Amino acid sequence: SRELPQQEAEYLIIGGGIAGLFTAWAAAKAGASVTLLTKRTVAESNTDRAQGGIAAALGQHDSPGLHMQDTLVAGAGLCDEDAVRILVNEGPERVKELIDMGASFDRTGDDLCFTREGCHSQDRILHAQGDATGAEILRTLSQNVTALASVEILENQYVVDLLVKNNICYGVLAVDQVSGQFRIFRGRVVVLATGGSGRLYNYTTNPEVATADGIALAYRAGAEVMDMEFIQFHPTSLVLPGAPRFLISEAVRGEGALLRNARGERFMPQYHGMAELAPRDIVSRAILSEMAKTGAESVFLDLTHLDPDKIKERFPTITLTCAKYGLDITKDLIPVAPAAHYMMGGIKTDLWGETSIQRLFACGETSCTAVHGANRLASNSLLDGLVWGGRIVQRAAYVLENRLHDKPEFHCDHLRPTPDIDFYELRKKLQQIMGEKVGPLRTAQRLAEALAFFDRWSYLQNHEVKETYQMEVRNMLEVGELITEAAMMRTESRGGHFRLDYPETAERWRKHIILKR
Ligand code: SIN
Repeated sequence: SRELPQQEAEYLIIGGGIAGLFTAWAAAKAGASVTLLTKRTVAESNTDRAQGGIAAALGQHDSPGLHMQDTLVAGAGLCDEDAVRILVNEGPERVKELIDMGASFDRTGDDLCFTREGCHSQDRILHAQGDATGAEILRTLSQNVTALASVEILENQYVVDLLVKNNICYGVLAVDQVSGQFRIFRGRVVVLATGGSGRLYNYTTNPEVATADGIALAYRAGAEVMDMEFIQFHPTSLVLPGAPRFLISEAVRGEGALLRNARGERFMPQYHGMAELAPRDIVSRAILSEMAKTGAESVFLDLTHLDPDKIKERFPTITLTCAKYGLDITKDLIPVAPAAHYMMGGIKTDLWGETSIQRLFACGETSCTAVHGANRLASNSLLDGLVWGGRIVQRAAYVLENRLHDKPEFHCDHLRPTPDIDFYELRKKLQQIMGEKVGPLRTAQRLAEALAFFDRWSYLQNHEVKETYQMEVRNMLEVGELITEAAMMRTESRGGHFRLDYPETAERWRKHIILKR
């Protein structure tokens, strides 16, 4: 064993997106000391990329009850109703706090503007700088959090493992990706806010960092994970050779954009009464079926009938990004197809964000309260990060009062050395397998092929890997296998999980799959 440098704070928060930053802010406001670690930089997160906005029942004709109804409909029978009630009731207060912190949402005169997205019965989505809502929230939060003396933010810290003894979490082992220094960070409350898993797929709207590390860490340490089979594929990501799968916000359809197949035909009204604004899983599958029918690589978003000036003003980021690739969105059709976007499942927590391991909390995309059920309602994810970040701090006050007298020692285990494997190739292969076999359309055969792949590499979990890149791939293998296992078990179709061999939703499956090591 090696002696490692150690440091300690009351809150140890992993992750620098909306969930981690808001938890840090709320904890510091409650008088606690906070260390926040991020794998890369605070700027690099799904939060930064969020376009459409943040949903909150703040409009004149809206109410938490209506927001709840829409969330439950999208969730396809699997939402935890208590969690949804909390989200829609506490959400507006948290959003007002963001506004008080300086977040500038778009307004007409003094009044907040609200837009609509899929499956919402009301215009209730706040947005900022048109389509740069997440970036504005991130700017506000990081500015406020960095100004607090009791919060230390350390970037480029890759968390290797959680330090857990007798089902109590004491902190983490992390490595500084610049200096290579390993360090133990102790926290009396440890919060995983590590975000999404989109990079497990070859097609995703998520940034490089979204590799599901938090879920792998928690699962390895013995925590329960839930609803892993439910992956949301966003219907409209840009499909152009050489371009990343850039998100074309659902808000574009909220403002009237239409979907057309390669023959130029509008198709969504044949699939659902809400047409282009049907729940996401339904729009994604409709697009895939039109692509199969026409043999094309994409369908098209058509904004050409909308007021060009309004479009440019409302969607400046999308306008600019598409222009970079030679598309004028006011005149040209935008080629789009579904891409992995959001994970409904994750580390199982109670309604206070507490996991099945004591003193270990989770919030945001890495966590699962079942608030999103089988399919998240558009623009509920930023809200989820805020609400549960706040609740963790409320709950953790009790945890902090209750001092732990134990201070167990932790050391690095020496495992068998890394075999000589090309981890870059392995990562690519994994993404391809997930995309082809565990994507929006699943069958027992495809899932069995994916499981065989994971089985072949499972021995890597018992080997020491030195590079953080290799650790990341190992986490991706762990989580990819969990998604596949749960997808194989669930012999029905519901929300983000669709089985071609079991296309119906089955009442006996109105339940959650919980996995534990
Ligand atoms: C979008 O702008 O379409 C994304 C919103 C979301 O994922 O909730």
